[in-house]
Amino acid sequence: DKGEFRHYMMKEIYEQPKVISACLEGRISETKVLTSCFGADSGFLKEVENIHIVACGTSYHAGMVAKYWIEDLAGIPCSVEVASEYRYRKVAVPKKTLFLTLSQSGETADTLAALRMAKEQGYLTTLAICNVPSSTLVRESALTLLTNAGPEIGVASTKAFTTQLTALLITSVAIAVENGLSAEKEKELVQAMRSLPAYVNDALLQDAHIKAVADRFANKNNALFLGRGTMFPIALEGSLKLKEISYIHAEAYPAGELKHGPLALVDEDMPIIALVPHNDMLDKLKSNLQEVAARGGELYVFADKDTDLHNEENIIFTEVPKVDSILEPIVHTIPLQLLSYHVAVVKGTDVDQPRNLAKSVTVE
Ligand code: F6R
Repeated sequence: DKGEFRHYMMKEIYEQPKVISACLEGRISETKVLTSCFGADSGFLKEVENIHIVACGTSYHAGMVAKYWIEDLAGIPCSVEVASEYRYRKVAVPKKTLFLTLSQSGETADTLAALRMAKEQGYLTTLAICNVPSSTLVRESALTLLTNAGPEIGVASTKAFTTQLTALLITSVAIAVENGLSAEKEKELVQAMRSLPAYVNDALLQDAHIKAVADRFANKNNALFLGRGTMFPIALEGSLKLKEISYIHAEAYPAGELKHGPLALVDEDMPIIALVPHNDMLDKLKSNLQEVAARGGELYVFADKDTDLHNEENIIFTEVPKVDSILEPIVHTIPLQLLSYHVAVVKGTDVDQPRNLAKSVTVE
């Protein structure tokens, strides 16, 4: 039932504050991550020395964000790979490596094949972060952390992604605590997590503004998404969402790669979507934006108001709530979902059922 919404995708976008709360429920206290959420076998949190994350599509993008979190907070090496590559190559597995899969459906053929292969490789253990409790992935993994997003009907993944990020944040902090993260820092991160549903709600308040931005954007044929740090995987996810449902060709790059090639594409017909969190990379990103503006590119900037960015001749500004930097990738995802949605509606595509795509890719 779509309720008041025209499409499942929009209903699911609006469910995010609620399902993120459901994902956090029982897994954090006022000050701590509760390791009991990993079940009786949470001993792996102490032992793990390496992490391999394997997933497909949007779930892979969630894994890319987690790599930044895990290496930053826990200081443990983490690699992320798409399942369709992982499963067909010889992988070197360091000792005490956790094999972590991410999947909304838990039925993605390549991800399942990767898990089955990993089980023969001497990993420390296998953990699935998954949305479907009765899925094959959950059944076949040693450990599971459910995302609790509820059924996702729209083919383009929205709430499944932000709840995967939430579950990954819980996991990253739990591992970090065993690797020297101070109780004070843990408390700070947990408090940030507790305010996440409210921030996601604030981000949704830009909906009407983003709809107007989408009207301006919908006639474009191409788009280039830029971000640094955790905003790079979010740029990838934003570009995937746009191509999936609006069929506009989109690419994403780490902003620092601009002058190594993609800058050649920039002219007045190439809009740039820049994700600008307020952190120590801000000045670097601003100078990337200058390079684009100097070539006539139209800039769609998503940033909080403290960045001092605003509407200008070539800048279309969308405000994103100012949040603790750990939450930025989750909160910045919301306006990009809304942008793709509204662009697709303007273009008249089948939003919930884009051409050529299936919700669950159970064949190779
Ligand atoms: C994108 C999308 C796909 C899935 C991918 C993996 O919006 O939905 O890219 O993320 O097919 O699916 P799961 O997460 O079910 O393994």
